[in-house]
Amino acid sequence: MIRNKEFWLALLGAGIITAIYALVTYWERSIPAAGSLFGHLLGILGFLLMLMTELLYSFRKRSESAKWGSMAAWLQFHIFTGLVGPYMVLLHTSWKFNGLAGATTALTILIVISGFVGRYIYTRIPRTLDGVELSSSSGQIQAVSLARTRRLMSIWYAIHIPLGLALFIAAFLHIGAALYYASLLR
Ligand code: HEM
Ligand code: HEM
Repeated sequence: MIRNKEFWLALLGAGIITAIYALVTYWERSIPAAGSLFGHLLGILGFLLMLMTELLYSFRKRSESAKWGSMAAWLQFHIFTGLVGPYMVLLHTSWKFNGLAGATTALTILIVISGFVGRYIYTRIPRTLDGVELSSSSGQIQAVSLARTRRLMSIWYAIHIPLGLALFIAAFLHIGAALYYASLLR
């Protein structure tokens, strides 16, 4: 299996989206506005991917009955949608970052950075293919460093989860306000 397949696929996805964005910009002779048809499309599709990122992996992880797909594959999908979604949303912004919408973008960027940090810590904990943590392997030193890594992971959780919640609250407020003021009242 190619290492970090999900990152390469996300890069490919971002490349294709960038090409389409460049074509639309060339065609319209201006950067697509956030409230235009194409801008809306980027915002809505990107947001749906982000929502999938937030929900699907957690559902699979906590579900007792769902056995489809390994946890490793779900985490790969989580990372793929967690990169492509925010990238589409970034193009949706039309490079303006005022008020609540700007804050929502900042939270989006923060959660992606935090994702990379989490991914790094996560890979340092030995697991089965299905994501179940293995108990410490041989040796006292290994056991100590594993305990430290686990502690680091739980601190990371305490940052990553509230960040996600704040992000989605801000995003829903932005969507409501943007649709009401910018789209429906036009
Ligand atoms: C996490 C997801 C999203 C982020 C981070 C985001 C961010 C932004 C930003 C930064 C702007 C530019 C604000 C400015 O002019 O300074 C904007 C504009 C806009 N967004 Fe979003 N957006 C998201 C999702 C959505 C979705 C799903 C929709 C539609 C259903 C939407 C609808 C709009 C509209 C209509 C505007 C234009 C407002 C105007 O013309 O004044 N956004 N968004
Ligand atoms: C829109 C962007 C993202 C959102 C909303 C998001 C949200 C979440 C949530 C809610 C969890 C907790 C899952 C659970 O335990 O129930 C999680 C875990 C995780 N995320 Fe993300 N994430 C995003 C992007 C990323 C990215 C880009 C990466 C990697 C580069 C990443 C890597 C991870 C890792 C390694 C875990 C821990 C998995 C585990 O302990 O089982 N995330 N994320």
